[in-house]
Amino acid sequence: MHDCIHKIVFITNDALPSIKIPQSSDFDLQTGDSTEIVAKFMPSNDDPMIALIYCTYSELPILSQIIEMFNKQNLSHFFAVHIEEDNHNLETNAQVAFVWENNLSLSEFLFTTSYQFRLLEQRMKDRKSSAKYLARLLDMKQDQEDLIKIGRSLSTEKNMPKLLRQILMLSKKITGADAGSIYLVEEDENGKRIRFKYSHTFSKDLPLEEFVIPFDTNSIAGYVAVTGKVLNIPDVYKLSPNDPISFNKKFDLSNNYRSTSMIVIPMRNHANEVIGVVQLINCKEPIDPTFSTGNEAFEIALNTEEDFREKVRPFDRRYESLMESVAAQAAIAIENNRMIQQIQNQFEEFVKASVSAIESRDPATSGHSFRVAEICRRLALAINTEKGGAFAQNQFTDTQIKELEFAALLHDFGKVYIDPSIFMKEKKLYPFELQNLILKLNYLYKNVELQYTSDFFKNAETDHNNSIRKIEAEKSKFLEMVLKIKNSIVALNEPTVSEANPAEIIENLNKQIAEIKCYDIEGKLIDIMTDEVKSNLSIKKGSLNDKERKEIESHVLHTYNFVSKIPWPSEFRKIPEIALMHHEKLDGTGYPNGFTEDKIPIQSRMIAIADIYDALTANDRPYKKSLPHEKALEILRAEAEKNKIDPNLYDLFARLDITIDQIKHEEEKQKTAANNY
Ligand SMILES: [Fe+2]
Ligand SMILES: [Fe+2]
Repeated sequence: MHDCIHKIVFITNDALPSIKIPQSSDFDLQTGDSTEIVAKFMPSNDDPMIALIYCTYSELPILSQIIEMFNKQNLSHFFAVHIEEDNHNLETNAQVAFVWENNLSLSEFLFTTSYQFRLLEQRMKDRKSSAKYLARLLDMKQDQEDLIKIGRSLSTEKNMPKLLRQILMLSKKITGADAGSIYLVEEDENGKRIRFKYSHTFSKDLPLEEFVIPFDTNSIAGYVAVTGKVLNIPDVYKLSPNDPISFNKKFDLSNNYRSTSMIVIPMRNHANEVIGVVQLINCKEPIDPTFSTGNEAFEIALNTEEDFREKVRPFDRRYESLMESVAAQAAIAIENNRMIQQIQNQFEEFVKASVSAIESRDPATSGHSFRVAEICRRLALAINTEKGGAFAQNQFTDTQIKELEFAALLHDFGKVYIDPSIFMKEKKLYPFELQNLILKLNYLYKNVELQYTSDFFKNAETDHNNSIRKIEAEKSKFLEMVLKIKNSIVALNEPTVSEANPAEIIENLNKQIAEIKCYDIEGKLIDIMTDEVKSNLSIKKGSLNDKERKEIESHVLHTYNFVSKIPWPSEFRKIPEIALMHHEKLDGTGYPNGFTEDKIPIQSRMIAIADIYDALTANDRPYKKSLPHEKALEILRAEAEKNKIDPNLYDLFARLDITIDQIKHEEEKQKTAANNY
């Protein structure tokens, strides 16, 4: 390159008037007066250029313009040589190399010119090598900074796929690699294997599919994983059969790629075990670091055969140790991440197993919380894809979706504190209460029969026909009455809504019962319908009395108290509050606090919709058949119109068209996972 240095000698007419300068093949001669020289000169963009300018002292300012041109073009160095009676301390001017006072002879001129050009050439070379050195230093400084950045960012990334991506991208940036892959070592009862986890090729858009290779030295990644050695191969196609590794051309052939240089580094954990491998392919950094942008990995595309031949270099030796540091940091981050993930999974499975155990107490609600969590997850994902409308500004991060899922899974956890018979209460009276009442009525029936039979025999002896007939008639009347009362009570026990006031009916029944006096063996009057039974049969809607309803409603407070005791990480701190509010209504008629919409978080509203939908569609109790999807949507729509549930969420839910079958399928999967725990 230095051979092409273009040399120019500028001589003004006044500088060397007494000698005739011959044209030389060594340099290009430019003559004229100073202004002419400046006007004529056009620096070339290509060749490096050095120049020697012979001028008088007074011409110096004009010719400085040439210097400017040189500097701007960053073409070369410049020297001025100069005469005149007074030298004006010209030696202190770094650009002036030679000063003379009297006329120069031709030989003096030739000697000075060749000598100064040699000096200039040397200076140019020095400058180049120091620029190279500086560039190398800057590159190393950049690498150090990247290394520190890696340590910082890797230690904060909690998402494994993102972490692997970050490790690979930073490794590529540091080494200027075009392609790269990350493999992780897995181990179970069948032994170790290597999983191809992540890959990126700047020059090709390739699909990413995980696959597994054996933990042996037959593959390059396997060799590094097994031996723990760093491989730095200048050209994988030039590996000899004697080398311990061989290159598999399959990838290159099927993707029209040409792997050349490759550096493969083991990732070791704190126990010095290899937990994975980073493989980088095709270094694109220029040999001369002065021309490096520091970002070749993501700037230079390799498309043609020529690109692969000319733009790819072997990986610099210094990257071996540098990448070992990167890989060590990556290994620690991966292990931390795995451990956190393991703890999280264990916790999640524990929560699922607990929820599953609680729900198994009542077969009718079994799986409810899993389904509610699944519906909420789908709602959150749907909100994330909404471009306009009510949810355009809402976005759920992965962590927030997890938070919502936990809150939904645990929303009814407080039911564990509540007597399950209340949840399973299908009629106004518990089965044992009804049984007791029926027994008493049967006793009453038998008592009436016995009473009148005994009266009959007493009168039969005296044969008072009239009395006997009267007795028979009364007996039939009372027996019939008892049977009717029994039937009325069975009918009243149903949790149906009717126009009739049950309290009035009961009062009537009670009066009828009072007509028949019935005593126990101790001679005490039997209270057939206790006050509690009367009040339960008077329930106007459903099967629960006020006390039982309050008891059931208290499950949200129990949930809150229980869930608050779990030391959640800060990103999940809202879980207790979200779960607490799943029965609040937008119009303030919900419980426990009767909050209105401004105080109810969107997550609680999402759980509320999923909760109602699941209760309507999935419950299949003998007295309450599950409703079809459309019917459930109708009920939800009515609730939305009354501003009980969030109308926008209802719209989204209806649009999603989630079917209970899809959710049940998902629930089965989750439950199997929980049971396997
Ligand atoms: Fe609930
Ligand atoms: Fe629920």
